[in-house]
Amino acid sequence: MKHEALSAPLTEVEADAVVVGLYAGEPLSGAASRLNEASGGLVADLIESGEVSAKLGDVATLLACPGVRARLALLVGLGERAGLTATAAYQAANGAARKLAERSRSRIACFLAEGWEPRLQEAAVCGLSVGCQGQDLYRSEKKRHPFAQVAWHGVPADVLASGQILGESVNLARRLVNEPPDRMYPAAFAEQARQLDAGGSVQVEVWDEQKLRDERCGCLLGVAQGSDQPPRLVIMRYQGGNPQAPTLALVGKGVTFDSGGLSLKPSEGMQTMKCDMAGAATVLAALQAIARLRLPVNVTGYVGLVENMVSGRSFKLGDVLVARSGKTVEVLNTDAEGRLVLADVLDVAVQQQASRIIDLATLTGACVVALGNDVAGLMSNHQAWCDSVRSAADRCGELAWQLPMFKLYDEQIRSEVADLKNIGEGRWGGAITAGKFLEAFVGTTPWAHIDIAGPAFVEKPRPWTDAGATGAFVRTLVEVARAWPPA
Ligand code: BES
Ligand code: MN
Ligand code: ZN
Repeated sequence: MKHEALSAPLTEVEADAVVVGLYAGEPLSGAASRLNEASGGLVADLIESGEVSAKLGDVATLLACPGVRARLALLVGLGERAGLTATAAYQAANGAARKLAERSRSRIACFLAEGWEPRLQEAAVCGLSVGCQGQDLYRSEKKRHPFAQVAWHGVPADVLASGQILGESVNLARRLVNEPPDRMYPAAFAEQARQLDAGGSVQVEVWDEQKLRDERCGCLLGVAQGSDQPPRLVIMRYQGGNPQAPTLALVGKGVTFDSGGLSLKPSEGMQTMKCDMAGAATVLAALQAIARLRLPVNVTGYVGLVENMVSGRSFKLGDVLVARSGKTVEVLNTDAEGRLVLADVLDVAVQQQASRIIDLATLTGACVVALGNDVAGLMSNHQAWCDSVRSAADRCGELAWQLPMFKLYDEQIRSEVADLKNIGEGRWGGAITAGKFLEAFVGTTPWAHIDIAGPAFVEKPRPWTDAGATGAFVRTLVEVARAWPPA
């Protein structure tokens, strides 16, 4: 799908559909008022009678609207002008695309984002791309049909280009997560990393099982040993800055399927566990966007890929694993596997001189209990770094909330047998004890952990997003790289 600039006016443009935004609580303006005039007051009339609403995310289809050549005009609610944030822009465009992509349409003309600031325009272009891709990868009859062309009135070409890159990356993350686990196993994911589409500017290194043994990644290998699918660790390097400049490390949890292992999940909880590699998908997709945007920064992505399964070779409760860092870990629940994988991957990032680290993981159900489905948990050992990650998320309209990392939680993950155990005492504060476990592997490197167990995958569609994978936090990672290095 190609986004391009449009100069033809609303009344003249040749397209299958025109898209026009409506602000709530104020007189018609901009494209909406032009459409109203061209149609002899139709738009005002529909709003007055209550047929059409300007509530954010509401859409209304006008067929054969007088005064325009396009056979369809889509009115999209934007809510109050004062509340027009990046989230609103993204959601409005996503909702419009979801409606228009219900059937095949080749050319859409968008008058939605004229006069907006570039950040909002970019969010809209991204949202529109995302709204055209569904989760129905293997349905014979697709529910969405991407347009061949989207022409935007009043949006500069560079903003269209960056919005398209972001949208394609969000869709890449969504596709990797939505792929079923029989197809997206560790080696298959590594192959996707090799095929990363950034004109060769990202160097990809894949550690196979033998290399992981040579590197003594005992925690990652412990999780992997119950599966017939061998594990991988993928390192993706993008050097947009000079070689001496500090490197941002992005680390992702890539459990391609989490059965829980011998601490087996009930069927219900296991149904969506193909989503447990969303952290890895987010990192891969963000790297692709950062490289395609040619940001002048050095970023390295590290993803740990395993399948957590049940077999005669599975790791057991009571086993003691030796992490790459040398720390010993008593396994008391095989379903707390993500932190084991990340322990070794974080250690690699630290050892390779990461200047600062962000990790992303669908790490705990407890984080969803604490914050709900739409908000990620944010934990850190360095307040200034945490604040810059949080403010990048805010600028993109992605929701993250910081959880405390008080020292007293550390006691909960001490073991009588080994240095650490892989669960806390009881289930309370489970998102934090998981964060505390990770903290034990980053030393003094400034690090922020984003638990995306809630926002990465949604079970029910909303007006502004499909069900399934969301691609949450791809945009935030790109925004962090845009603001790199932090002050
Ligand atoms: N992958 C899960 C966490 C998860 C839950 C992600 C729901 C997405 C949606 C993780 O590996 C897990 O099973 N965590 C356990 C930890 C517990 C055993 C300490 C959990 O949250 O129950
Ligand atoms: Mn688990
Ligand atoms: Zn998991």
